[in-house]
Amino acid sequence: MSKLAVHDLAVRYGKLTALAELSFAVAEGERVFISGPNGAGKSSLLAAIAGSVRAAHGRIEMDGDILSGLSPEAIARRGLSMVPEGRRIFAGLTVQENLMVGTGMRRDRGAIADDIAAMFAAFPILAERARAPAGALSGGQQQMLAIARALMTNPKVILVDEPSLGLAPKVVDEVYDRLTGLQDLRGLTMIIVEQSSARAARVGGRMLLMRGGRIIADGDAAGFAARDLLAEAYFGEPA
Ligand SMILES: Nc1ncnc2c1ncn2[C@@H]1O[C@H](COP(=O)(O)OP(=O)(O)OP(=O)(O)O)[C@@H](O)[C@H]1O
Ligand SMILES: [Mg+2]
Repeated sequence: MSKLAVHDLAVRYGKLTALAELSFAVAEGERVFISGPNGAGKSSLLAAIAGSVRAAHGRIEMDGDILSGLSPEAIARRGLSMVPEGRRIFAGLTVQENLMVGTGMRRDRGAIADDIAAMFAAFPILAERARAPAGALSGGQQQMLAIARALMTNPKVILVDEPSLGLAPKVVDEVYDRLTGLQDLRGLTMIIVEQSSARAARVGGRMLLMRGGRIIADGDAAGFAARDLLAEAYFGEPA
């Protein structure tokens, strides 16, 4: 059985069709990159899976259970977590307070403390800056915080929207090292929106290429550059 399956998913904003009945399945422990030009529907796809955008049509399943129609909180409780585009950390709260956002009334304090300790072990820089306001962190550190916050609910599936946005290449290396390390450690299933196909090829995994709300190619990230598919996605039909 697939860990995650998307069947004929459509998302519309008024008259605009952001996702046009797309389908794909992800195996447990798989790493899937989603690439494609601005407006292709990448963020809408992640948001629909996480339950923060309502699907107009179609069905999303995790472990064979239907997620469609559940609230984002209910989906998170079932073990799916999202790191949103632009990170959305709370600049005025401390690093530690950011990690606690959303853990609220749901869990006992001991479990929350254990989860925070695990995140500090995975991201030592966050432990060092635990009491600093999150707004004082560098962009790369803020991305680490956003990832750590998403992992606080102990998800089995994590969706990450453009973790490299606005970061220097060396910092992007570091973010991906942490992401892949945590994936191996926790057996996570991961879907990552990544504009750079070269980056996706280097990190390694499967890649779905989107354009106009559809998946136009699906294969090993390392094979994409050779196949002119990226030029086709970005610029229209190949010459
Ligand atoms: N909340 C919204 N209301 C109306 N239209 C929206 C909304 N969010 C996205 N769209 C539109 O839906 C389409 C898909 O947008 P989406 O953000 O999913 O694309 P994307 O591939 O993530 O783009 P980017 O690379 O710029 O992040 C675009 O045409 C966008 O303008
Ligand atoms: Mg986006």
